[in-house]
Amino acid sequence: MDFALFVLRASLTAIPLYVCNGLALVFGGKTPVDLGKKFFDAKPLLGPGKTFRGTASGIFFALIAAALVWIAFPQSSGIIGANYFLYGTLLALGAIAGDFAGSFLKRRLGLERGRSIFLLDQLDFVLGGYALAFAVASPALLEVVFLCAFTMLAHVIGNRIAFIAKIKKVPW
Ligand code: CTP
Ligand code: MG
Repeated sequence: MDFALFVLRASLTAIPLYVCNGLALVFGGKTPVDLGKKFFDAKPLLGPGKTFRGTASGIFFALIAAALVWIAFPQSSGIIGANYFLYGTLLALGAIAGDFAGSFLKRRLGLERGRSIFLLDQLDFVLGGYALAFAVASPALLEVVFLCAFTMLAHVIGNRIAFIAKIKKVPW
């Protein structure tokens, strides 16, 4: 597979994943999806960082983005090897599921909302998305590794910019 096609396929995968994750953050609301419920261990099920508004916004805008790409760039389905809108939908739902799974795990480990686990925090949505989208299209392993590495890098750079712009208090 040539390099341009490789990057194109990774980008088509990144769009619904990043839109879903990013817009969940931007539109995150008040009511948590676990409704403040505790698990058997008396710790929060998912915690207050997973809200109905964030979840619905992430999925909604990811579907819009996937639909726009699918319509504006019909070759997308051929490149992915499945209907692109379906692929994007599964990526978005999987991203949410992966993010929930990450928070569930963090709560079980007794970590409070926002406390970080390196790699898990940044990649749960990418791996969740790929896992669900695997139902219709199997990616090259190299693409998964590439997108994970790119996502880690984007996090570091994004947090630095947010720090310099005084949106974040710490540069990580
Ligand atoms: N968010 C949301 N709903 C989601 C995902 C994210 O409302 N389904 C919003 C929340 O405001 C959350 C922010 O986006 O605080 C950042 O998301 P994330 O880093 O995943 O959550 P954390 O606050 O770090 O919580 P956790 O420790 O559970 O990962
Ligand atoms: Mg977090």
